[in-house]
Amino acid sequence: MYAGSFKVALALLALSQLLFCQKSEPTPLFTKGVFPLVMRPADFAAHPKTGAAMQSSTDCAPCHETAYRNWQASRHRVALTNELYRESHEREPSPWCVNCHAPLRLSGSDSKPYREEEGVSCLVCHVREGKILVKKLPQTSAGGSRVTHAGPAHSYSVDNRLGDERFCEGCHEFNFPTAATAMREGHALHYTDQPMQSTVSEYRSSAFYGNVTCSGCHLFPYTPDSHTFPGGHAIDRLKKDLRVEVARVSPGRIALKLFASGVGHSLPTGDLFRTLRVRIIDPASKLAEEIELRHYFEPIAGAANSTTLPLKRRVREETLPPPQADYISMREFTVTWPASADRVVTELYIDYLNHMSTITTRLPPHMTRPLIKRETHRLAPARGADAKG
Ligand code: HEC
Ligand code: HEC
Ligand code: HEC
Ligand code: HEC
Ligand code: HEC
Repeated sequence: MYAGSFKVALALLALSQLLFCQKSEPTPLFTKGVFPLVMRPADFAAHPKTGAAMQSSTDCAPCHETAYRNWQASRHRVALTNELYRESHEREPSPWCVNCHAPLRLSGSDSKPYREEEGVSCLVCHVREGKILVKKLPQTSAGGSRVTHAGPAHSYSVDNRLGDERFCEGCHEFNFPTAATAMREGHALHYTDQPMQSTVSEYRSSAFYGNVTCSGCHLFPYTPDSHTFPGGHAIDRLKKDLRVEVARVSPGRIALKLFASGVGHSLPTGDLFRTLRVRIIDPASKLAEEIELRHYFEPIAGAANSTTLPLKRRVREETLPPPQADYISMREFTVTWPASADRVVTELYIDYLNHMSTITTRLPPHMTRPLIKRETHRLAPARGADAKG
């Protein structure tokens, strides 16, 4: 009797393992905000010298000065504490948001994140089950001929996902959850099939995929810029990577081209409100035209209380597309322009908020819509005043 049910249990175990192995998906490093990242005391890594549990990113600082200093100034560190996030979380106070913006908790039942002031921290990305996650074993570690008496500084866990976009995917690629479940956590949260952020799939459709990794452009390993993670808040970089060209195409029209070089996905990408805004200013200093490059969404009727419908649906992509063969992406716009005018002034901005929030925000414009650059473009004289454009 006992032996029989034992055999059944064994068979079930074998079957479940078979099913599990067939899926053979590695445990996800990040769950797209479905679950927080729970760290029990035993999960902290030991300090290489004192053996004490390293419970904060500041514990890493003395030995990893460059990574620490740059991360400290990065958006990852302020992911939960920055004003833009805080204001938007006040409008949508969902626990789901916190699971990406500051994922650590000391227990699954804690509602408050652990070390929220560290946002996406060293611990979030590098510490699991008492070990330090690495792309590959560092050279000074045990395992090769370079073993020293002291041995490796840490106990390491090698995971090759740290070497490519799969590592970023658990936070930088996700869909709209349904409105009625976005206030819940864990398996009670339901994702729809409508993209909210799609940076990783945009990257996979660009010419950079397979040549340059996300980290190659944002983490710069083993350089003085290591762990800076520049993005939409790196105005100096945007100034350098974006170019506006204006030329007269006919007596009554100009063409404006916006180029991005070295961007490994659409621009804007990521957050749904991100917008590149070009203002074209006429010789009388009046706004002649305003162009918005962004992802366009439309609300879905009846979604507000639904457990199945996404809140919004992406209807149009008017971004700079993921670059192809020449690694440059471009969009062109034509605008009517007086034949007599010999110059055009353009202003290029990046917006972090949508239209509605721009009206209701308590934040000043330089924080919600900084100017990237203002330029004056000279136009060639209109040829043949009688020519009709
Ligand atoms: C007492 C100094 C010390 C402290 C504190 C320390 N580390 Fe290290 N760490 C090292 C040294 C030295 C290495 C070089 C590799 C080796 O000797 O094993 C290293 C290697 C690493 C690597 C692998 C580097 C590579 O080239 O792949 C990572 C990742 C890392 N540490 C993360 C951390 C994190 C995260 C913390 C804080 C939780 C931390 N370290 C705290 C000394 C330290
Ligand atoms: C645990 C979740 C998480 C992981 C993993 C993660 N990120 Fe982020 N990342 C975020 C969040 C949240 C923000 C937004 C911070 C804020 O509020 O400004 C962000 C911001 C950024 C920014 C700055 C964007 C800007 O507009 O300034 C860049 C660049 C970036 N991440 C790149 C990466 C790359 C590359 C990887 C993979 C190596 C990665 N991230 C892994 C959550 C994550
Ligand atoms: C958003 C996730 C993320 C955060 C936050 C993060 N790292 Fe890393 N780190 C990585 C990834 C991914 C790599 C491997 C990059 C590669 O080689 O392609 C890496 C590489 C490293 C390396 C080896 C490369 C180098 O430039 O030195 C060290 C050391 C390191 N991290 C330490 C830290 C420390 C210390 C912190 C906190 C101050 C930290 N990391 C925060 C994701 C992160
Ligand atoms: C070939 C280089 C390159 C690659 C590869 C790349 N990026 Fe970027 N990314 C950029 C540049 C350039 C910007 C704009 C900021 C700048 O000029 O530095 C940017 C901006 C961003 C932003 C801010 C977006 C916004 O709209 O404001 C995020 C988030 C981001 N990248 C994440 C990622 C992630 C995640 C990956 C991998 C899936 C990745 N990037 C791959 C170059 C790259
Ligand atoms: C699956 C992970 C994830 C979840 C869940 C998530 N975010 Fe984010 N969020 C990100 C990433 C990644 C970025 C960076 C993208 C970029 O810079 O364009 C970001 C960027 C932002 C930004 C822009 C911040 C800035 O510095 O400009 C705001 C605001 C924001 N999120 C608010 C929220 C709110 C509110 C929620 C919940 C309703 C939420 N997020 C849920 C991953 C997430």
